[in-house]
Amino acid sequence: MVLEGLRKLEYRGYDSAGLAAIFSENKDPIETERTTGFVSDLVLKANGRFDGAKISIGHTRWATHGGVTDYNAHPHSSEDGKITIVHNGIIENSMELSSKISKLGFSLSSETDTEVIVHLLDYELKTQADGKNHLDAFCSVISQLEGSWAIAAMATGLDGILISRKGAPLVIGRGQDNISVSSDVQPFYGACSEVAYMKDGDNFLLTREGIISQLDAVIPEFEILQGVYDEADPGNFPHMMLKEIHDQPTSLSNALSGRISSDGINAQLSGFELSPEQIRKVERINLVACGTAYYASEIICSYIRRLTNIRAEAFIASEFPAKSVCSPNTLTIGVSQSGETKDTLDALFLAKKFGSKISSLCNVIGSTISRLTGNGAYLHAGPEFAVASSKVFTNMIAVGLLFALTISDISQKEKKNIIKELRKLPNIISSQLMDMDDSISLATELITNSEPPIFIGRGALSSYVAKEGALKMMEISYIPCLSVPGGELKHGPIALISEGSPVIAIAPTDSNLSLMESSIRECKSRGAKIILITDNEGPVTELADILIQTNNTHPELSPFVNAIPIQLLAYYVGVENGVNVDRPRNLAKSVTVV
Ligand code: AGP
Repeated sequence: MVLEGLRKLEYRGYDSAGLAAIFSENKDPIETERTTGFVSDLVLKANGRFDGAKISIGHTRWATHGGVTDYNAHPHSSEDGKITIVHNGIIENSMELSSKISKLGFSLSSETDTEVIVHLLDYELKTQADGKNHLDAFCSVISQLEGSWAIAAMATGLDGILISRKGAPLVIGRGQDNISVSSDVQPFYGACSEVAYMKDGDNFLLTREGIISQLDAVIPEFEILQGVYDEADPGNFPHMMLKEIHDQPTSLSNALSGRISSDGINAQLSGFELSPEQIRKVERINLVACGTAYYASEIICSYIRRLTNIRAEAFIASEFPAKSVCSPNTLTIGVSQSGETKDTLDALFLAKKFGSKISSLCNVIGSTISRLTGNGAYLHAGPEFAVASSKVFTNMIAVGLLFALTISDISQKEKKNIIKELRKLPNIISSQLMDMDDSISLATELITNSEPPIFIGRGALSSYVAKEGALKMMEISYIPCLSVPGGELKHGPIALISEGSPVIAIAPTDSNLSLMESSIRECKSRGAKIILITDNEGPVTELADILIQTNNTHPELSPFVNAIPIQLLAYYVGVENGVNVDRPRNLAKSVTVV
């Protein structure tokens, strides 16, 4: 059951896996196995040894401290093998704690920040006063830790699992004949019918009889497990990423559904604690996010600025200057697919600390960020399994645009024009996906046989689509990609262009088109090969060496039609380069460390 759970969490990205189990006859040391590689490697190594286990914990590791090796993989065990633990997160004072445990006579057998915890627990259990139990010892160890964690520990003779959460997700599930704990609800589908969400600071002993806490601690209530498990099944597509790119007509339709008034004039994105009138009065709106979600946030901010008079700014969550941009009359919105990204979570905590109201736009229902903010809107893209985000990027922009329209004070006529086109978007994207000619394969061939490409765009919409294009290509093809706003080329990056350098130019029909033409000419006259992404059919197309024609739509909606070719290009270049595009090296789907 635990191995099956690990398999359902595989999409999150990891580099090693491990398993530990206690059997009815209470053998010690506790049976453990760990390996670099995939859960399937662990299954092979375990070779049926764990069948019939009574209590078991498993883990997939994404290396932060110490290389990707078998001995750094979790679980980590005490010297006598009677205690074993798994941990997500980072123990920031591990150096200090490791010198403490060395002085106590323990020696470390890994380079991880995790291993200190098991030795501290071992020491605590061996030295604690009479009358104290395993949970007391565990809580005492937890009180010595600094950093972030989701920890599960087992000990010979203990009929349960010790669990602790601070800054990394941990959820308890209950089924007919099991009680389980996991870092997200995916493994619970099919095994549990109820869930209880742990809060930061919770330390429990999980037993067959239920959750046991220390005196005065609040035990979370179980609630019905919502949603259904969607298997990471690419169907007729060779990879999940390609399937998810093709999911976009459906996911966009789900994002819009029920959020546009029946007369097609107004957008009504509900779920926010503040009413549209209250939001219009805030001093500023901050968006905090990472990676693709950050680029989507830049586009959303541009919508807010264009459609309202509210000051809006997007921030890379790990660089959020909360003190200078948060106060009680501000709103800070976290934008996240997983709803678990630690950097985004921390930025929201900071925003709250400095008085800002907080909200979120998340895809995963019940995720930590959506629960922390307690208000906001879901993205409704459906589960996204490929590490490289595609359908969630466009859903973020769609929901962000609905948000901007909901609070906007532009004329009804202007609003109606945008909403009319927005409603057509699923069909526009669908026909674009179906009508793709051989331009993507020609561009793929050019990119795989040339210097690294440069992505250019102009204006707050296209220059961020260009940035997303470069990120996507880097993630899944391992080609170093640059993205610059067209106007910036001449201030430095143009030095990189030589005969045959590919330049991917995003040039929708909008007020920046003629400036884009100048940028393209600057590149072309220095020998660049232009891969032009445009809906325009005018003279600009003559500048293209390879023309990727998109469908035509309202200028505000250009990021949607332009996202499709940049996603497809990244995908095909990745495949051509032999990369496992759904699980590229070094990356995790949910980044729960800082
Ligand atoms: C997207 O392709 C990336 N894998 C990554 O940049 C991601 O968008 C980022 O880590 C943020 O994740 P989140 O949306 O789950 O918060």
